[in-house]
Amino acid sequence: MLRGGGASLIVELAEPIPRILHWGADLGELGPGDLGALRLTASGVVAHNSPAQPRQLSVLPTEADVWSGTPGIEGFFVGGTAFLRLALTGFEVSPSGSELDLLLTDELLAVRVSIHYGLDRFGILAVRASVTRPAGPALSAFVVSGLNVLLPVPGRAVETLDFTGKWGRERSPQRRRLDFGTQVRESRRGRPSLDSPYLAAVGTESFGFRHGEVWAVHVGWSGNQRYVTERLPEGAGVHHGTLGGGELLLPGEIVLGPGQGYQAPTVYFAWSGEGLDGIAGAFHAMLRDRPGHPAQPRPLLVNTWEAVYFDHDLTTLLTLIDKAAAVGAERVVLDDGWFEGRRDDSNGLGDWFVDKKVWPEGLWPVVERARSHGMQFGLWFEPEMVNLGSRIIGEHPDWLLAPTRGAGPAIRNQHVLNLGHPAAWDYVFGRIDALVSEYSIDYIKWDHNRELHEAARRDANDRPGVNAQTLALYRMLDALKSRHPSLEIESCASGGGRVDLGILQHTDRVWTSDCNDPVERQQIQRWTAQLIPPELMGAHVASARSHTTNRTSALSFRLVTSLFGHAGIEEDLTRASAAELEAYTAWAALYKRVRGLIHSGRLARADLPDDACLFHGVVAHDRSQALFAWACLATSGAVESGRVRFPGLDPSRDYRVTLPAEAGFPQLHERAPEWLGTARAGSLTVSGRLLTAIGLPMPTLDPEQAMLLELHAEPGPGEPQDRSSRA
Ligand code: DGJ
Repeated sequence: MLRGGGASLIVELAEPIPRILHWGADLGELGPGDLGALRLTASGVVAHNSPAQPRQLSVLPTEADVWSGTPGIEGFFVGGTAFLRLALTGFEVSPSGSELDLLLTDELLAVRVSIHYGLDRFGILAVRASVTRPAGPALSAFVVSGLNVLLPVPGRAVETLDFTGKWGRERSPQRRRLDFGTQVRESRRGRPSLDSPYLAAVGTESFGFRHGEVWAVHVGWSGNQRYVTERLPEGAGVHHGTLGGGELLLPGEIVLGPGQGYQAPTVYFAWSGEGLDGIAGAFHAMLRDRPGHPAQPRPLLVNTWEAVYFDHDLTTLLTLIDKAAAVGAERVVLDDGWFEGRRDDSNGLGDWFVDKKVWPEGLWPVVERARSHGMQFGLWFEPEMVNLGSRIIGEHPDWLLAPTRGAGPAIRNQHVLNLGHPAAWDYVFGRIDALVSEYSIDYIKWDHNRELHEAARRDANDRPGVNAQTLALYRMLDALKSRHPSLEIESCASGGGRVDLGILQHTDRVWTSDCNDPVERQQIQRWTAQLIPPELMGAHVASARSHTTNRTSALSFRLVTSLFGHAGIEEDLTRASAAELEAYTAWAALYKRVRGLIHSGRLARADLPDDACLFHGVVAHDRSQALFAWACLATSGAVESGRVRFPGLDPSRDYRVTLPAEAGFPQLHERAPEWLGTARAGSLTVSGRLLTAIGLPMPTLDPEQAMLLELHAEPGPGEPQDRSSRA
């Protein structure tokens, strides 16, 4: 029995293969009586036209235990059997009681499966499975087709949630009933991609941000993947259905001879009795607990992409850096367009040398200007990609990750470089390493702008190579970080096409989306935060007219929206008016004042009856302060919101409610409720009890407007007054 963070997993070490008795709420310390009862009641009916024994959900279900659902392991011997008979041959429970290791073996076929379960103190259950073959002569090869981790969900889990998306609209939620059948969500795009399932959840009727029981899974992998939610008529024994996933392996991608093995990606599970915010809170806490999690304040950055695109004119860029420094930016990122032949997106990828025609003095002028302002310097790369016209592919066509008989269609004019090819890996690593060393680069924006199709390894008889490519990528990221320990890396992929806990083991933040339109961004960030905390999520203020939607929005709405992430600026500041620069300056100061809270507190999202407005925020762990945004995306049928409850506050304390002015104020659609004036004057104090139980009537905003609310707990008797981050 593993327990942690209010959750528990109970596995019976049954013969021949262990079965799962429970995953969900922590059942507490169970004595022999309860455990016996749990074991006894884990067997259900013996149905007509069924096996003589009641059905069970094993830790790795296969046909050998008359399992008719998605198997835990799939594989075959060429021209031979596909039916493993695994039996428990070893196990270990850690002294802390938070980890369990199982060894399952098919002695006859010489196949071993190890499963490691780790349930941390935040309630995140991380499961790592692997298949190995013993060393030995004359073993025939075993082709692994899939290794999935599946856990049970009960009958009260009746609704599912997962995500889809497209360019500029990542992580769009979709909800369905959990009916009979198998809901499979796959990525065959060589990356999680823009329509990534991201997090698959099932929950009790109408589960929301703050209510309902929720069971969720995330596959921590940056290549092809599969999520499964399944409910068969016979259930999963006494359980209602299953939830899980793993890597989607292409045919023949993993072939194991003697002494070889396959390590599946870590699959993460979370259970919450407090809705989706409980799930988000557990993942955020787990990620923040990692030794490599960013510890320094997340610097306000300026990225050149939407400001200048490929038009790398030095005078403009130097002015941009000066203006960015003046408003308070702390990092400059030079985006696509700096390397040989890269005047647009049709050429240059792969030739990672500074283009001397455009940059006769190298990148020094921008690097030095940034440093003269005390700013960090970052540079864009797309290391896994090449253009066919590049010098490097002219010299090494065998480095393409594409069939030998010819590369297939280009996407964004580009093809994929086989990082699994040792010489190609060495070349790319060498170029990035040299540039990082030469310019003391602080930050890399690591882009990946196409899906992988026909990912054939020319150096291995055209065998599929998505798995090898993903592992080679991870190796390169790690090698760069080990050579340059302070280097930060951002994962970008056509916007937010590679956001997963696999890539985040090797990088420091993600580019959330190419869409900086605040109306879209409110939703994209709201749902991206379902898995990852705000400090890992790039959120930039861009120009009034969005480059992806052509919608025009108010500066204050853009500023408020970008505050709830790792903030940056994408707008061309060289064209900004004096008033706009002043607004940016005030907002930059606000970001620096509140980032400590946003990047450490608990996410709090309110469940509202109306989709037109969102109410979300971050509450400090000790609930002494909070920052909320009331964001209206459209008009509503209702004249006013009525009272809106504040999630996450302490009902036993009083809070001073203020309206920070530094991001501007929204346009009101109706006359403001009276309390707003009191709050603006800084003299509104409301009890946490009132705020959490019945809330405040929010102002009716014009569409596409947002308002910030800052809350500070009043000191209790004898406590010192904390004015450190007051508005
Ligand atoms: C796609 C990224 O998402 C953008 O931010 C930008 O870096 C471009 N690629 C550059 O080509």
